[in-house]
Amino acid sequence: MKNLARAFLDLDKRDFAVLRGVEKGMRRHDWVPLDNVVRISGLTHKAAERRLRTLAEKKLVYWTPDPYVGYQIGFNAYDLVALGTLVDRDIVRNLGDLIGVGKESVVYEALGDEPLVIKFHREGMTSFKHVRRVRDHLKDVPRCAWILAARLAARKEFQVLSGLYPIVTVPRPVGLSHHALVLERLNGVELYKIDLLNPKECLDIVLEEVASAWRLGFVHADLSEYNVFIRDDQVVIIDWPQAVHRSHPRARELLERDLANLINYFKRSYRIDMTLEDALGTVMGNK
Ligand SMILES: Nc1ncnc2c1ncn2[C@@H]1O[C@H](COP(=O)(O)OP(=O)(O)O)[C@@H](O)[C@H]1O
Ligand SMILES: [Mg+2]
Repeated sequence: MKNLARAFLDLDKRDFAVLRGVEKGMRRHDWVPLDNVVRISGLTHKAAERRLRTLAEKKLVYWTPDPYVGYQIGFNAYDLVALGTLVDRDIVRNLGDLIGVGKESVVYEALGDEPLVIKFHREGMTSFKHVRRVRDHLKDVPRCAWILAARLAARKEFQVLSGLYPIVTVPRPVGLSHHALVLERLNGVELYKIDLLNPKECLDIVLEEVASAWRLGFVHADLSEYNVFIRDDQVVIIDWPQAVHRSHPRARELLERDLANLINYFKRSYRIDMTLEDALGTVMGNK
């Protein structure tokens, strides 16, 4: 969406009631019947229909006439629903710029009691589109599975961060709504964007963080120079939705892949030689 804040301000309470009605209905229906939207939204039939029509013009809801009149929302409307809840709960008071469009998320600056970011999860968007393209006859892949995938990923990331913070330096988790995760905003840049003066020291600190996570029972499983943030002299590890528990059958393999990514980056960029065995030794120690 070009401007989430503008779209948010364009909607009133009734529009939100309708969007929430469609969103709730999508937990059970592929296409939510009009009657369900009416019931959940608490509006009259006529008012709900009118709102649905204007929301459809804005491409915030989609509809089908067949086999019954039904409605769906996409990610843009889902973002607005989540944002509405965060504003109602006074976690977020201002929405700022779009600062990151990652593989599986869209990240905005925001303001609450402190500088924040909102990470809107997008898991399920590409994979389900892909499944549909390849196997379009697949009727058992629900169209709305992305809603569930994105919501679960946000919740998982919130839980992992809550388990790690503050022992591992990660952004402090502040709130969760639907597929939107609110985090403390970090002032800094990703590792891949800067020239370090003390690369060896930095690699050692990153390994210490990976070791702390391991001791708490977590493997990041998507670690690279893109998910390490440098804030002043501190190293912060971000982007945890795919983390696995240490007892996971592939935990060791994923830990080795994480470490290999880091070692290769430091080798490529700074000619620092460290073996995987040495890195594993630091992380797993003798504990
Ligand atoms: N807490 C934060 N503070 C500042 N910027 C952040 C924060 N979290 C994420 N970002 C920015 O958003 C980008 C994407 O976030 P990330 O969690 O890595 O998700 P993705 O899975 O999409 O890579 C990051 O690379 C970073 O630029
Ligand atoms: Mg990332």
